[in-house]
Amino acid sequence: MSGIVVLISGRGSNLAAMCRAGLAPQIKCVISNKADVRGLAIAKQYDIRTHVIDHTKFESRKDFDIELAKTIDGLNPSLIALAGFMRILTPEFVRHYASRIINIHPSLLPSFTGAEAQSSAVGSHVKVSGATVHYVTAEVDHGPIIAQGVVPVKGDDSIEDLSTRILALEHVIYPFAIKKILAKQVHHQQSEVVIVDTDEGDEDLLGDYFGYVYY
Ligand code: GRF
Repeated sequence: MSGIVVLISGRGSNLAAMCRAGLAPQIKCVISNKADVRGLAIAKQYDIRTHVIDHTKFESRKDFDIELAKTIDGLNPSLIALAGFMRILTPEFVRHYASRIINIHPSLLPSFTGAEAQSSAVGSHVKVSGATVHYVTAEVDHGPIIAQGVVPVKGDDSIEDLSTRILALEHVIYPFAIKKILAKQVHHQQSEVVIVDTDEGDEDLLGDYFGYVYY
């Protein structure tokens, strides 16, 4: 097992951030459940293989997941990174990849799960929000936390303002967490607790966010 498979559904800005951070050679394939999305064009720019599995062609969620797993297993990756993949995965699928599948979510989980994380944060008048990289479990937007980064929520923030601020953080924290996993500096025993080793290179990887990312 080696390399990464990235699952996307759209824009692919996190995929682009992984590539800018030097991870493109490790990405074996980008799989999208939608054709013609920007993320696929980004993969092609970096000469990464792409594959589309259109979920509308399947009768059930289970059938789609079986096809997705067949494709992923053919690639034999050590890591599956969800990056804006807008499909709920079946418990069977998630179990099959236990401790090998991660996601990024635009909030400080367990607060603000779901698709409206940024607007919920603005609407709740919290003072900070952020992004969370976590292992994927059967419960959506739950699962053992690998790293969390914090950004301020300002009184006059629009949803777009906060989304933009969180997205810039995502683009640093997700490649950071992936590099730590590939370097075997993330230890997860399928419990809720994830231990991440620190090292001198972390400051460089996190840049301006150093001190605002917890792991
Ligand atoms: C990001 O905000 C990510 O946290 C969430 O979906 C969005 C994907 O954006 N899971 P992109 O496709 O990577 O630009």
